[in-house]
Amino acid sequence: SLPWDLAGKHIVVTSGGTREEIDPVRFLGNRSSGKQGHALAALAVARGAEVTLVTSADLPTPPAVTEVRIESARELREETLRAAATADVVIKAAAVADFRPSHVSESKLKKGTGAEPAEIRLERNPDILADLVAARGRGEVPTSCLLVGFAAETGDASASVLEHGRAKLARKGCDLLVVNEVGRDTTFGRDHNGGWILDSDGGETLVDRASKDILAGRILDAVVERSR
Ligand code: C5P
Repeated sequence: SLPWDLAGKHIVVTSGGTREEIDPVRFLGNRSSGKQGHALAALAVARGAEVTLVTSADLPTPPAVTEVRIESARELREETLRAAATADVVIKAAAVADFRPSHVSESKLKKGTGAEPAEIRLERNPDILADLVAARGRGEVPTSCLLVGFAAETGDASASVLEHGRAKLARKGCDLLVVNEVGRDTTFGRDHNGGWILDSDGGETLVDRASKDILAGRILDAVVERSR
C-alpha cells in the first residue's frame, strides 16, 4: 500500500511538450509524451495530494487530478504561475520549447513555383522555472514552495550528464533537479526512465532505469524528504 504522505499538499505538475504555432496548421514541437509528468500526477494523488496538472499531452487525465490544458510555452507559463500561487510543490516535467516562431502566419505557408522555402525566424521563450524561482523570491509564489526541475541531458566531450545536471541545478536556482539522459531512442515517449535526483543541499540519488511510475515514486520520496 502507498504512504499517505502528501496529504494536505497542493502539487502542481507540468507535463508533455509545448506546441509553438507556425501557421494555422503547423507547429514546432518535441518528442515529450507527458508519460513521466502524468505518472507523477497520478501517484501524488494516490499519496494524498491535491494535484493540478498543466499539460498539452495527449494522455487521459489521471483520476481526481485537476487538468489545465495549454499549448504554447507562454500559456504554460501563465497557467503554471497562476496555479503556483497556492502550491506547496511545483514539479516541472514539461519539455518547454526554448524558441518560438517570431511571427505566426495568418494563412498556411505554401510552396510556390520555383520560390525558396519560407524561412522561420525564432525568438526565445521565457524560462518558466527561472520565472518561478524569481516569483518565489518576490513572495508571489509561497516562499516555502518546493521547486523541482527536470533536465534532459546528453553527455559530450567536455562534461558528463551528471556534471551538466549539477551546473544546471545551480544555475536554475530550484531545490531538486531530476536529470535524465536522453537521446532519440531513450526516455522521450518511452515507458522507462532513469537518472539522478539532485538536491540543492548537495544530496544525490541515482535511480536505475525503471518504469516512469517507479521514478515518479522516487521523486515524490525526495519531495517528502526535502519538505520535512
Ligand atoms: O534549460 P532546460 O530546458 O534544460 O531546463 C529544464 C527545466 O527547466 C525543466 O524543468 C523545464 O520544464 C524547465 N524549463 C522551463 N522553461 C523553459 C525551458 C525549460 O520552465 N523555457
